[in-house]
Amino acid sequence: MPQPLPRIAVLASGRGSNLQAVLDAIAAGSLAGEVVGVFSDKPGAAALQRVAPPLRWSAAAKAYPSREAFDADLAEAVAAARPDWILCAGYLRILGDAFVERFRGRTINIHPSLLPKYRGLHTHARALEAGDGEHGASVHFVIPELDAGTVIAQAVVPVHTGDTPELLAERVLGVEHPLLLAVMRLATSGRLAEHGATVQVDGHPLFTPLRLDCAGRLTDPAGGATA
Ligand code: GRF
Repeated sequence: MPQPLPRIAVLASGRGSNLQAVLDAIAAGSLAGEVVGVFSDKPGAAALQRVAPPLRWSAAAKAYPSREAFDADLAEAVAAARPDWILCAGYLRILGDAFVERFRGRTINIHPSLLPKYRGLHTHARALEAGDGEHGASVHFVIPELDAGTVIAQAVVPVHTGDTPELLAERVLGVEHPLLLAVMRLATSGRLAEHGATVQVDGHPLFTPLRLDCAGRLTDPAGGATA
């Protein structure tokens, strides 16, 4: 009997290029999984258009009396899709504690900075203002505190003289997609787990986040092993 494919729910508020990278990798056979729903707080989000109508769920968060009320509807819709993994890919709304706890250990987020630097918004402008020589992206487990969960893997890009936030964002986006796919491959193949504040890969704790190398592989800076 063939194993059922890992089920992936994606939360997105915007254009959805990370979602598209996941869909393309699945279509190309380089990621074993199935996108079982795309969920948005923005009914007009371009990300929703990337999947067939039955897979789309959206509700205008503004129409709800509270964050908890919106999150409760979102959580029910996500749970109904029976996901193994929930991927926040450009989901620009803070997830409340109840949502996070319900799906804890299987919700991951991609964030455009080298966490713990620059949680929250405007990460590219903040890296430029600080005069950083390097910037990048992180994929981490989601916990109730914003962008504060344990980091699974990171990808680094150089900051160039004359960079604008837009140029830097474009460079970071170029590494976000392979970074996300590499982490999703770990996740959907059952090799990734969150234990308290520790990330485990193949049952071993990670002491520093994995790094994406130029061939699109994850390496462990502490052990040198390739994941
Ligand atoms: C990405 O930079 C992601 O890291 C951030 O929001 C952006 C979303 O891009 N959280 P897209 O919607 O996947 O194209």
